Amino acid sequence: MNFDEILRLEDFEPLARDAMEAGAFDYYVGGAADEVTLRDNVVAFGRRRLRPRVLVDVSRIDTSTTMLGTAVSMPVALAPTALHKLAHPEGELAVARAAAAAGVLMHAATFSSYSLEEIAAAAKGPRWFQLYFHRDRGVSRDLVTRAAAAGYGAVVLTADLPVPGYRERELRSHFVVPDDAGPGNYRSDSGDQDLLGYFTHEIDATVTWADVEWLRGVSDLPVVIKGVLTAEDAGLAAEHGAAAVVVSNHGGRQLDRCSASVDVLEEVVDAAGGDLEVYLDGGVRRGTDVLVALALGARAVLMGRPYLWALAAGGEAGVARAIELIRVELDNAMALLGVTRTDQVTRAHLM
Ligand code: GLV
Repeated sequence: MNFDEILRLEDFEPLARDAMEAGAFDYYVGGAADEVTLRDNVVAFGRRRLRPRVLVDVSRIDTSTTMLGTAVSMPVALAPTALHKLAHPEGELAVARAAAAAGVLMHAATFSSYSLEEIAAAAKGPRWFQLYFHRDRGVSRDLVTRAAAAGYGAVVLTADLPVPGYRERELRSHFVVPDDAGPGNYRSDSGDQDLLGYFTHEIDATVTWADVEWLRGVSDLPVVIKGVLTAEDAGLAAEHGAAAVVVSNHGGRQLDRCSASVDVLEEVVDAAGGDLEVYLDGGVRRGTDVLVALALGARAVLMGRPYLWALAAGGEAGVARAIELIRVELDNAMALLGVTRTDQVTRAHLM
């Protein structure tokens, strides 16, 4: 397939629907309960309006930035998402290659199809490791130690899934992950459970802020807390030594009726007060969404489903096209907003 004809991220979704098993597609596409938050993530970005400045020399645009000191080619990273072999046989290896070639940060997930070492060996780009606390703390310690040894630059603790959300599509489909799709990081004794049962079986619902301190002691890697939606939790993240937070509602997959990520970004940025880098995920589909998040104070955004759809549609080439699309849009939107570097985007650029 010639991906040059794909002109927006959302065009990948119908291709993915055709390419994937129905149960696997439902797992990726779905949100919790009525999917209010899932939809709102996108709709809330669409409500924001930019304030462009004119007669600025925008002949040279530089989209590069850093995330916790790591140089990246643009303030858009690939969010942690599970089980990439459900989308494509090359799974996370294809994603790692496309991300590295483009100089964007990728996340390897605890529940990746390939092991974190296989992902690290696939390409030498910037990469962070996403952690769920396993009920057996030894498993978590081992994963983080392995991630540090394999060159991952940070551990991103997903804090908003003590238990899985009420995901009706999954409750209906009882989707069981095929054996050859993983997970690749460790052997599990959870048997043939559907995904919701699997998460409940593996993930520790007793985790608290005290465990963040424990996690900081396991390795030298900076700790990022993903799933923060309030000023209170941003304050606690700083207090407990996190280096960054991700404003996220888990792509609308956890608590339905919580706010769209972009609607609470300002609150979290203000509470972080420069002590933490703040990122956002949820609803990023356009270069202009990236600018809105930067204007509200995010250092970078993460995109999830769009690159999964691209992976399903075309493996590494699909993911490469998805990354290129958001870069082209961002470059164009920066010029039309009247900025040449990402750090020039401020709240004055938003209505
Ligand atoms: C896992 O993190 C999921 O949202 O399914």
